[in-house]
Amino acid sequence: MNAVTNVLSLKIVLGKLETMSELLEFTIDLARTAGDILREMYEQPREIHAKGVRDFYTDADLAAQAAIVERIRSREPQAAILAEENIQPPAGATSIWVIDPLDGTTNYSRHMPVFSTSIALVRDGRPVLGVIYDPLRDDLFAAEAEGGATLNGQPIHVSTASDIREAVIGLDWGRGEEARARELEWLRRTGLQSRTIRAIGSAALGMCYLAAGWIDVYYHGALMPWDGAAGKIIIEEAGGTLLNHRAQPWNYVEPDCIGCNPNLMPWALASLS
Ligand code: IPD
Ligand code: CA
Ligand code: CA
Repeated sequence: MNAVTNVLSLKIVLGKLETMSELLEFTIDLARTAGDILREMYEQPREIHAKGVRDFYTDADLAAQAAIVERIRSREPQAAILAEENIQPPAGATSIWVIDPLDGTTNYSRHMPVFSTSIALVRDGRPVLGVIYDPLRDDLFAAEAEGGATLNGQPIHVSTASDIREAVIGLDWGRGEEARARELEWLRRTGLQSRTIRAIGSAALGMCYLAAGWIDVYYHGALMPWDGAAGKIIIEEAGGTLLNHRAQPWNYVEPDCIGCNPNLMPWALASLS
């Protein structure tokens, strides 16, 4: 970042002037800290607890979240935080850390090596930076508004595929029956068309795979805000587009989302009707 951009991207946090890039570095550090914990605990016996229908958390989810939250609070004691394992921001907060400490808990607890930590900073309802870390591959995806998206520091872009017959669709599976019915209906319409389909097991990583061009479409019918907040800015900064089922720009608090590269957008729009 040059000096001019640096000055332009000055933001006030806690009365201190800070650049977005400094915040991004801080967020990367948070994600790596959580990822180190997840990596260390991966081979150990898990404590698994139910918190809802087909919804679980483990001791690793809690340990990773505690480390992230402790670091944010030691830097910014009043920080507003929305984190999956039961942390809500105060009403009316306009700057919120949105955290999924372990995205892919089922994979993790079954020793399927596809999971991540996802952290976004949301300002006035829009993610302004996002970091998603896959600790087993040591792959760190990051983006900040108007700064592009990167994988391990190198720029990434969505694919250029334009023919759905060549496209790889990534998706994930909601928990509730209503969401699953919606997903099956979308699959019924689209499943015969693509080259192939992958169910990934970490929505945050699925979004990164789209951003990196490893898949061409990502679909989910039942996201939570912490699943997709960081993925949204990473995909957008990589040149992708995200829509909801009404074919409107997807807001990270909405459950249903389809993302793709611009060339596949006409197909994506048609798939929603
Ligand atoms: C889940 C994963 C999964 C998706 C679920 C999410 P979690 O998150 O992202 O791929 O299908 O909808 O809830 O519970 O492992 O953090
Ligand atoms: Ca999640
Ligand atoms: Ca989680």
